[in-house]
Amino acid sequence: MPHNRTLLITGGAGFIGSHVVRLFVTKYPHYKIVNLDKLTYAGNLENVGDIEKAPNYEFIKGDIQDKPFLTKIFLEKNITDVIHLAAESHVDRSISGPMEFIMTNIVGTANLLEVARSSWSDQHHLFYHVSTDEVYGSLGAEGFFTEKTAYDPRSPYSASKASSDHLVRAYHHTYKLPVKLSNCSNNYGSHQFPEKLIPLMINNIRHNKPLPVYGKGENVRDWLWVEDHARAIDTVFHLGKIGETYNIGGWNEWTNIALVKHLCRIMDQKLNRPAGESEKLITYVTDRAGHDLRYAIDATKIKNELGWTPTIQFEAGLEKTVDWYLSNETWVNAVTSGDYQKYYEAHYKG
Ligand code: NAD
Ligand code: DAU
Repeated sequence: MPHNRTLLITGGAGFIGSHVVRLFVTKYPHYKIVNLDKLTYAGNLENVGDIEKAPNYEFIKGDIQDKPFLTKIFLEKNITDVIHLAAESHVDRSISGPMEFIMTNIVGTANLLEVARSSWSDQHHLFYHVSTDEVYGSLGAEGFFTEKTAYDPRSPYSASKASSDHLVRAYHHTYKLPVKLSNCSNNYGSHQFPEKLIPLMINNIRHNKPLPVYGKGENVRDWLWVEDHARAIDTVFHLGKIGETYNIGGWNEWTNIALVKHLCRIMDQKLNRPAGESEKLITYVTDRAGHDLRYAIDATKIKNELGWTPTIQFEAGLEKTVDWYLSNETWVNAVTSGDYQKYYEAHYKG
């Protein structure tokens, strides 16, 4: 089938990127999908193993910090559109080592923008930047982030994502580059690297290891099923207005401690443990530096203007997520061996 668009999806071997790549490869056979990923510790080709032989799919290993390489790919593949997800994404790692976040998230995004600007001569293109609600800072007990909320990033990770958002908007205003942006809340689901709260807790419960809850566990996050995020990206990509930003969220706020206790209950049932057994593993540990108290997204704009809403209830999605991790032990063991052990010991020591 001739392809009428060639999409470069960056970070497509990561958690969210792999779900986005799968959705676009299977739903749009008339698009060619080029998945460009550096395969850092967070990227894994097994995440897209099921679609690797699709005729409209190609994987290229590469680094968005390398501008000459990006120029070559744009030219050789005749890239018409970009969905940019590649990033360093873990807040804790940005606190212990911010430079890689600055290089990939800011310089890497700037490289992609520059190459798109010099490669595209008309408006029949799209640069879609996938971002986070963390750029808005931290909420108290009340209120929500809207698209009009002022930026107030507070970790090296969120500051690097805020910088990249600003660059994307600047290229639209200054050079008329056709862009769209979305800022999403916390994702959960299959293939998430077990340094993030939900898969880390599932893995530790399974192995009867302590469950490290930061501070008092009172911080609040808004959780969204990763496939609902991928559907939202599809919706914004096709229906969103050029130059606009869309907030994406689940209307689903949980304190960390309530969420961890809920996971413990699910795991007790799945592992045939007596009720209350896994909760005994909860251990309160030193809080994250500068820990944002609460994130909550008002996703009214994407709902009213583009008709997107989340489809999966959190309790059902969480159970599906637990089932995926329990039946994909080989995947979990592969990604938690070697360097992960060193990271874990260094981060959670004491
Ligand atoms: P992830 O860490 O699971 O995956 C990131 C991917 O980017 C990996 O495959 C990695 O190999 C790749 N990558 C990293 N540096 C690269 C580089 N220099 N060049 C090319 N590839 C590189 O991240 P994720 O959770 O899937 O997040 C994807 C995007 O969505 C990020 O931009 C993140 O900021 C954003 N986001 C994430 C969440 C969330 O809850 N996880 C929520 C909102 C927005
Ligand atoms: O809000 C969107 C963001 O969500 C994304 O932009 C980030 O890429 C993504 O990593 C996520 O950031 P968080 O910092 O919210 O996610 P994390 O899973 O690291 O932590 C979720 C909450 O759980 C947070 O309040 C910190 C807490 N936590 C986390 C870990 C890893 C713990 O209490 N213990 C832990 O061991």
